[in-house]
Amino acid sequence: MSSQPSAPRKRVTITELRRMKGAGERIAMVTAYDATMARLVDDAGADAILVGDSLGMVFQGHDSTLPVTLEHMIYHSAAVRRGLSRSQGRAHLTADMPFGSYQASADDAVKSAMRLVAEGGAEAVKLEGGADYADVIQRIVRAGIPVMGHIGLTPQSVHKMGGYVVQGKDAEKAHRLLRDAKALEEAGCFAIVLECIPAELARIITGQLAIPTIGIGAGSHCDGQVLVVNDLLGLDGAFKPKFVKRFAELGGGVAGAVAAYVGEVHGGSFPADEHSFHSATLRLLHAVDDERPDEQQAFGAPV
Ligand code: KIV
Repeated sequence: MSSQPSAPRKRVTITELRRMKGAGERIAMVTAYDATMARLVDDAGADAILVGDSLGMVFQGHDSTLPVTLEHMIYHSAAVRRGLSRSQGRAHLTADMPFGSYQASADDAVKSAMRLVAEGGAEAVKLEGGADYADVIQRIVRAGIPVMGHIGLTPQSVHKMGGYVVQGKDAEKAHRLLRDAKALEEAGCFAIVLECIPAELARIITGQLAIPTIGIGAGSHCDGQVLVVNDLLGLDGAFKPKFVKRFAELGGGVAGAVAAYVGEVHGGSFPADEHSFHSATLRLLHAVDDERPDEQQAFGAPV
């Protein structure tokens, strides 16, 4: 039986994401920060990958996303792009605009977004903020770059919010978030992340927008969901916020595998013969060497 070359997989675009909303098909988005994870996430069927500035916390070990720079984001986005390209990935790729790369001026924002696309291989950028960022978003979109909005709990404003707290719980704040969502759609966003807001509010926003909403801690009525890959894999046993579901407990698995390796190295059972390379010539010389234990003679004089 001859094996047919598999047809190239159709890549997800912003048009496809919009179609999915219209058709009532849920969008599954996951973060990734390196080539290996990008390939795994894409092979598993994720529709969209976010190179989130959450990498500042889960990859770099900071306690916020604030120290992440544009250079860091470009570096990780380019790694994810290489992972996707090598495996003919289909997932849509969005990269976060980090703190300081878009707040000071629309010119800064356009230049930063262009670098994420040109050097980082992203197909879209995401930035945090509501109606106040409508002009910035319009400028980036005008430059030909799709923008994903992000409202609700916006981690880059952690100090302004007074911590990582659920947003939009009272009527006035909920109305403001609804107005923000509409302003972002009006400004040209192709999708909006709703982070840590009541499910009731996410449902209203989702129902009033033509563009997809992607929820994290925003209940089940959004058009899609996004999770930080480390969280859904259960890599950090100590981190379990309410909105995260661990689909695996790989933290324990990784620790167990490394402990087994350490044990075998200490005990001398790894590497075994099957992990070792051999040379017939050197085996012969070794036999001679047994008779003439001088190392110089056994392996030949240096040239
Ligand atoms: O940085 C990130 O990973 C994000 C998602 C949590 C939405 O912004």
